Amino acid sequence: MKFNLKNITRKDLKNKSLRQLVANFRNEYISDGLNEEDMDKDPIINFERWFEDAVKNNINEPNIMHLATAGADGIPSGRIVLLKGFDEKGFVFYTNYDSRKASELSENNNASLTFLWNELHRQVRIEGKVHRISAEESDIYFHSRPKGSQISAVASAQSKVLPGRKELEKTVSELERKYKDKPIPRPENWGGYCLTPLRIEFWQGRVNRLHDRIQFTLQGDKSWKMERLYP
Ligand SMILES: Cc1cc2nc3c(=O)[nH]c(=O)nc-3n(C[C@H](O)[C@H](O)[C@H](O)COP(=O)(O)O)c2cc1C
Repeated sequence: MKFNLKNITRKDLKNKSLRQLVANFRNEYISDGLNEEDMDKDPIINFERWFEDAVKNNINEPNIMHLATAGADGIPSGRIVLLKGFDEKGFVFYTNYDSRKASELSENNNASLTFLWNELHRQVRIEGKVHRISAEESDIYFHSRPKGSQISAVASAQSKVLPGRKELEKTVSELERKYKDKPIPRPENWGGYCLTPLRIEFWQGRVNRLHDRIQFTLQGDKSWKMERLYP
């Protein structure tokens, strides 16, 4: 296996547990940094540029993002979802409308998204309000997915307790038979959400932890205020 931990030797790994070693995991972030002059006034344009950099640099699944939600009890929960669209209106992901995240969003539609493009020493944090996208938009995306993914969306009561893997596999086999030569209708409880941003922060790692952070906060309806934050 490839060994590329800079501060930890093979001997360390042999003689110490990872519980003892974990504090030694560290990396130096070297980059050209982030200048206000190079940033567009519109954070969505900046996001698009960074997303393009991630794609061009062959970052594995650059559309992976962390979604944090909290229901009425205020207890946060987080999970990874995939970004499936973005524009001036916001950032779109798809999921089950009866899932834990959906139930939390129905109680409190404030949420945050975090992207990590670690190889580029970059993080983007996005905070805003989440709403469901239209049924028509969800239909279009649902039918663009591979059939296996469509079946799994129908079969999975996401976030509910499943007595055993066999039950799920049985449901999938039944659905495969049922829809062998037929299109699969999008389940009503599966579709998209859009997070409309109120704050977007770009983080660029730099040497000695003197990182650059530029945040954009929405002023009124359209204009964005750009500020530098201490690292
Ligand atoms: C790489 C990756 C991509 C994922 N993409 C999605 C996604 O786009 N939509 C989704 O509902 N779950 C996705 N998941 C699963 C979620 O992380 C999570 O397990 C699931 O949505 C249930 O979350 P909840 O119980 O908080 O609602 C993904 C997981 C990983 C690791």
